[in-house]
Amino acid sequence: MTKMRIIVKKNEEEVSEEASNLIINEIKNKEKFVLGLATGETPIKTYAKLVNAYKQGDVDFSNVKAFNLDEYVGLEPSDVDSYSYYLHHNLLDSVNVNEENIHLLNGETIKINQIAKDYDLKLEKNGYTDLQILGIGLNGHIGFNEPNSYYDFGTHVTDLSESTINVNKRLFSEQNKMPTKAITMGIGSILKSKKIVLLATGSKKDEIMDKVIFSNQITPEIPATILKLHKDVTIIMDEEAAKTYLKKAGTERENIN
Ligand code: PGA
Repeated sequence: MTKMRIIVKKNEEEVSEEASNLIINEIKNKEKFVLGLATGETPIKTYAKLVNAYKQGDVDFSNVKAFNLDEYVGLEPSDVDSYSYYLHHNLLDSVNVNEENIHLLNGETIKINQIAKDYDLKLEKNGYTDLQILGIGLNGHIGFNEPNSYYDFGTHVTDLSESTINVNKRLFSEQNKMPTKAITMGIGSILKSKKIVLLATGSKKDEIMDKVIFSNQITPEIPATILKLHKDVTIIMDEEAAKTYLKKAGTERENIN
């Protein structure tokens, strides 16, 4: 197992500042940059800060290729509840990523298995992501890699767990519209990212972050535990999400798995 770098910040604002600065530095250091995007509530402020930095002239996205982690099956990209819409609305429409460099999973088509295969080929051709942003589900999912008895390595269609349906329906314009299936980048592709940055904020994430950080096991029942196999994972969390971690780790905030 490798050591994950753990950064604890005071609050969501500071987590977002840290994450956006880290992303900006990475983008600046590369001629071509493949950025893996997450969705959900957690990274919204980070994206707002990236947009702000772009508007101030502090970062240029013309060298960036964007891939996303997942999408609901059955929603058109223009649907306000789709992750395509979310990413356009929160980031992509407000920065200068070239249209041809935007690769978002499309959950609408009936050829969903073909979409999954093509996505894996596209990721492979681009050398996978240079930096993958991740959130984490209350059940430990990353992307929509739900707790399971095995890890799915490539992009695949998955049934959403009851926990995810219950947690995520709050984000839907009409709760009964929430799909029960999704398409997600697999664990294998996530692990091929050169750098992974996992964000967690709020007290509701405390329990799962404790489990992930202190678990001695890598288990598909807590999908995020597989990140312990990756060489370059940075976890950025706020004090609420890190409450148990801080209690267990005392003042030593680095390098605990
Ligand atoms: P959240 O979702 O950011 O809305 O908490 C995270 C996730 O489910 O991966």
